[in-house]
Amino acid sequence: MANGHGHHGAANLTPEQQKQMIEQELRLFEHMKNIKYKIAVMSGKGGVGKSTVAANLAEAFQKKGLLTGILDADIHGPNIPKMLGVEGKDVMIEHGEMIPVMSKNGIKVMSMGFLIDSQDTPIIWRGPQKSGSIKQFMADTAWGDLDVLIIDNPPGTGDEPLTVLQALPNVDAVIMVTTPNSLSQEDVLKCVGMVKMLNIEDIGLIENMSYYVCPHCGEKTNIFGESQGENFANDMGVVYLGNLPLNEQVPESANKDSTMVNAYADSEITQKFSEIIDNIKLAFLDDD
Ligand SMILES: Nc1ncnc2c1ncn2[C@@H]1O[C@H](COP(=O)(O)OP(=O)(O)O)[C@@H](O)[C@H]1O
Ligand SMILES: [Mg+2]
Ligand SMILES: [Zn+2]
Repeated sequence: MANGHGHHGAANLTPEQQKQMIEQELRLFEHMKNIKYKIAVMSGKGGVGKSTVAANLAEAFQKKGLLTGILDADIHGPNIPKMLGVEGKDVMIEHGEMIPVMSKNGIKVMSMGFLIDSQDTPIIWRGPQKSGSIKQFMADTAWGDLDVLIIDNPPGTGDEPLTVLQALPNVDAVIMVTTPNSLSQEDVLKCVGMVKMLNIEDIGLIENMSYYVCPHCGEKTNIFGESQGENFANDMGVVYLGNLPLNEQVPESANKDSTMVNAYADSEITQKFSEIIDNIKLAFLDDD
């Protein structure tokens, strides 16, 4: 595959660099080997609610009794720590390994945001390139035992999401987040193409901001037009996992350092996340 990274073709690397690259891959493998399921969340473009979905899925998995972690690999807007109430926390480093920060609900969180914001965390990225930094950041995080790791990928189909997906050993499912407008769907189509190119077959789709429920009379409106998510998923041959309402409490709760699943346990959107988790389990995770 032509991706410009020379993923395994280490043609221009010195023997020392090759050795470091192999050691990094081994570290990543070692640090992820006790994670039962890895689920990557992607979107064709930014602003569709990818991080919101990733954070709420993590909360919903944890609520169902699965030991859950979340890797915020989107270096452009690392906003997962804020939604999980751990913004500005320091990452502990032990023997060169980074220990994920624990959220109040027991979710293990690792984000580039911790390393960028913090004054006293040493800059441990030595790679001059972004993709090098992402890989090193992934390799050096010691997750320990987890049932589920959610990965919030960088948006789009460029070098960064590709780097993340290629580095992850055994991705169990990729979840695409889209919104009901054709532009966003075209981007998702590209994304699905990229994921299939990497031989990942288990792909699901969530339509975010699909409809609005009037808080006064309860009437449902498709403010962005007729919902297309299910037809769109069928056309692309991916699993339709469900849709989510547009709700002004979503940004509100994020500003208050929380997710909807955590702050509004009885809301429609929380119920939807719970159903989506059941669909993910049914479609992609074995029952053992
Ligand atoms: N279902 C929703 N209803 C209302 N606002 C939402 C919803 N989903 C996401 N948002 C808001 O849209 C903005 C972008 O969401 P975010 O998750 O950061 O997107 P992305 O990670 O794709 O860039 C945020 O302000 C977020 O709170
Ligand atoms: Mg985001
Ligand atoms: Zn109304």
